[in-house]
Amino acid sequence: MEYETVELDEKDNSIVIIDQTLLPRKTELIRLRTAQEIWDAIYLLKVRGAPAIGVTAAFGIYLLAKGIETEDYDIFYKEFARQKDYLNSSRPTAVNLSWALRRMENICVKNQEKRIGEIKEALKEEAFAIKEEDTWVCRMIGEYGLSLLKPGDGILTHCNAGQLATSKYGTATAPIYLGQEKGYHFRVFADETRPLLQGARLTAYELSSSGVDVTLICDNMSAMVMKNGWINAVFVGCDRVAANGDTANKIGTSLVAVAAKRYNIPFYVCAPTSTIDRDTETGSQIHIEERPAEEVTEMWYKERMAPEGIKVYNPAFDVTDHDLITAVITEFGIARAPFEISFQEIFKRKEEKRRGAEKEAD
Ligand code: MRU
Repeated sequence: MEYETVELDEKDNSIVIIDQTLLPRKTELIRLRTAQEIWDAIYLLKVRGAPAIGVTAAFGIYLLAKGIETEDYDIFYKEFARQKDYLNSSRPTAVNLSWALRRMENICVKNQEKRIGEIKEALKEEAFAIKEEDTWVCRMIGEYGLSLLKPGDGILTHCNAGQLATSKYGTATAPIYLGQEKGYHFRVFADETRPLLQGARLTAYELSSSGVDVTLICDNMSAMVMKNGWINAVFVGCDRVAANGDTANKIGTSLVAVAAKRYNIPFYVCAPTSTIDRDTETGSQIHIEERPAEEVTEMWYKERMAPEGIKVYNPAFDVTDHDLITAVITEFGIARAPFEISFQEIFKRKEEKRRGAEKEAD
C-alpha cells in the first residue's frame, strides 16, 4: 500500500486517513482535526475496521487533549473525559474503540502528578505505541494463521480485515500476505459483503493490488463455492470476542460459519487480544450497531431499488456462536475450545511479555 491507513501529522495537528468510502475509484487522503470530524469519519466508515478505529481514536484523543489549554489537572481531565466519551459514542460494536480510549485515559490518570505538558507527551507516546503494536500483532497473527494453511489452499474471507482495517498486514489477510511472500499461491474468495461492500470495494482491491489471486463473489454464493470444494479454510476478522468465544463480526459472518460447518471447512477468527473482551461473557451481551435503512435501499445503486417506505432491518454485525469457530488466532497463539480456558493461557503469555518488557526498560 502506498499510504498508511491512519497517520498523525503532528505539525498540522491532524490525522491523515484514506477516505475508504471512495475506494477503489479514488484514493483521497483527508485530514481530521476536530472532534466532530473524527467522530464523523468513524461513524461514516471513512476509517473502519476494529484496529484502525482504535488507532484513530488514540490519535484523535491525543490531538483533542493537546488542544486543552489549562495547567490545572482537574480541568484538563474533565475535558479529556468529555471528549473521550464523545469519540467512544461513534460506533458501539468494535471493542478496540473503547479499549484504545481507556488505554489513553489510564495514561492521564497515571501521570496526574506531572505537568500538563508532560501528560500530553505521554499521551502522544501511547497513541504511537498503539499503532506500532498493531503492526506487530497482525504480523504474529499472520504467522500463526499461515501455520494452518498449505500452498495452493482456497481461502474464503468476509468483509475487510485487511491492511485498510489495521496499521499493516490486516488480521484475516495477514496469513495471505505472508503466504504470498513465500510463494504459497493461495486462491482467495472475497464475499462482497452487503450492504456496504467492504469485500468488493476494499478486500478485492487490496488483495488484487498485491498480486493475490482473488475472486469476488456475492454473499449468497459462499455455500456454493464451499460445496464445489474450492475452499480449504475460512479466515475472518472480528469486532469483539466474548469470554466464551462468541464473536461479533460484519453482518453475514455467522451465515458463512454455518455453511463452513456443513461442509467441514475450518472457520478461523483472527483476533488481536485487544478485540477479546473478557468483561463480556457471551455474544448475547454484545451491542450490535444498527445503521440507516438507506444503506440497504439505495446506497451504491444508480436508482433506489426498494419500495418507498419499506421496513428495513440493517444490523452492521452479527454474532457467530463459539461452537461454529474452529479456532481464534491471536498474536499470542491459537486458542481452541473451551475458549474460556484457552484465552486464559493467551492472556498469561501477554502478561509475561509485558513484564519482560518492563524489566528490560528498568
Ligand atoms: O463496519 P466495518 O467495516 O468497520 O466492519 C469491519 C469488520 O467487521 C472487520 O471484519 C473487523 O473490524 C476486523 S478488522 C481487522
